[in-house]
Amino acid sequence: MREKILVLGGSFDPPHKGHLALFLAALKRLKPGLALVVPAYQAPLKGAPEAPAKERLELTRLGLIDALPARFKRIVRLDVREILSRRKVYTYETLRRLRQQHPGAEFHFAVGADSAASFGRWKNTRELKAACRWWSAARPGSSEGIPKFFGKIPGKMPDISSTELRAMLALDQDAKRWLVGSVARRIQSRKLYGLALLADLKSSLSPERFAHTLAVAGWAQELAKIWGADQDEARLAGLLHDFGRSIPVPKMPAYAAAHRLSVPCREDIARRQPMLLHAYISEDLSKRRGLGSSAVLQAVRRHTLGAQGMTLLDRVLYVADASSPDRSYREAPAIRRLAQEDLDAAFSACLQAKISHALSRGSWIHPLTVSLWNAIAA
Ligand SMILES: [Fe+2]
Ligand SMILES: [Fe+2]
Repeated sequence: MREKILVLGGSFDPPHKGHLALFLAALKRLKPGLALVVPAYQAPLKGAPEAPAKERLELTRLGLIDALPARFKRIVRLDVREILSRRKVYTYETLRRLRQQHPGAEFHFAVGADSAASFGRWKNTRELKAACRWWSAARPGSSEGIPKFFGKIPGKMPDISSTELRAMLALDQDAKRWLVGSVARRIQSRKLYGLALLADLKSSLSPERFAHTLAVAGWAQELAKIWGADQDEARLAGLLHDFGRSIPVPKMPAYAAAHRLSVPCREDIARRQPMLLHAYISEDLSKRRGLGSSAVLQAVRRHTLGAQGMTLLDRVLYVADASSPDRSYREAPAIRRLAQEDLDAAFSACLQAKISHALSRGSWIHPLTVSLWNAIAA
């Protein structure tokens, strides 16, 4: 009889109970003689994984092999070739290799619902279809887009994806119920998936500022989803935007001078509204920690004064900061609703509210903000 081999592929960034349930159900349904778990170094259709390869390898071992009942553990191996190659490996390459290593074996390949739905964009799909049988399990309410030739692994699968999990972890939400205990503990002890930044923010900001930071990050991520901006970047920009508030306001001018921050009208700000320096300090603190792409850092820098020609990400953060769920000024609820219907209108409303508040207090207004308003009003 031909040897039956089950392959479970994925980025496992991080591995979760959805992966484990799929794997277990596939093992029960297909009864293979050998099962291989193959973590990708970087899936060709995805961006770089968030956790380092070494960590994902260990998380995969804990979450998808050690967590199995003993009778399955005996037949399961961790296949490390893709991840150790340190390059994007196409699935057809892996399958060719495995077929060479196990000539004559009957291959079955299982992937999560999201990967299955992207199968049409994989390389050499005809070869892949001929080389093995394909299996997936639909997440509740999202079997959409999975090609018809995929067999369906029976069973109720947890409704979670790694993308959603990374967002939960980065926003300090409880993700434990979706993770195998040993995986959750390792993520915690290694401070993966944004936990290092969260600890840093928690220890350097006041509790109110930390709560505001989380509210802005979550709201920015939601607005990014609505308006088609990068959700990970929007969330990170939200997390970093008020980092500068960890410096007491009276010390902000000295910080800006000592670090030679390039702030338009720095002397005027320092004398009249030193608090306005915090956006530039946030950018500087983030840069020093190697956090954020240039797009994220720009959004952080522009979140208070604004600028001409703001990008989508800039505007998402600006609006998210001014209308986050913790904001309680009179116009805030209306701006929150508007932000979901018309981002530009919400942006103007935020700017108008900021200027009105400044005028009502008789405060100095930065020329950048004034010229931005004039451009919009014109
Ligand atoms: Fe701010
Ligand atoms: Fe803020």
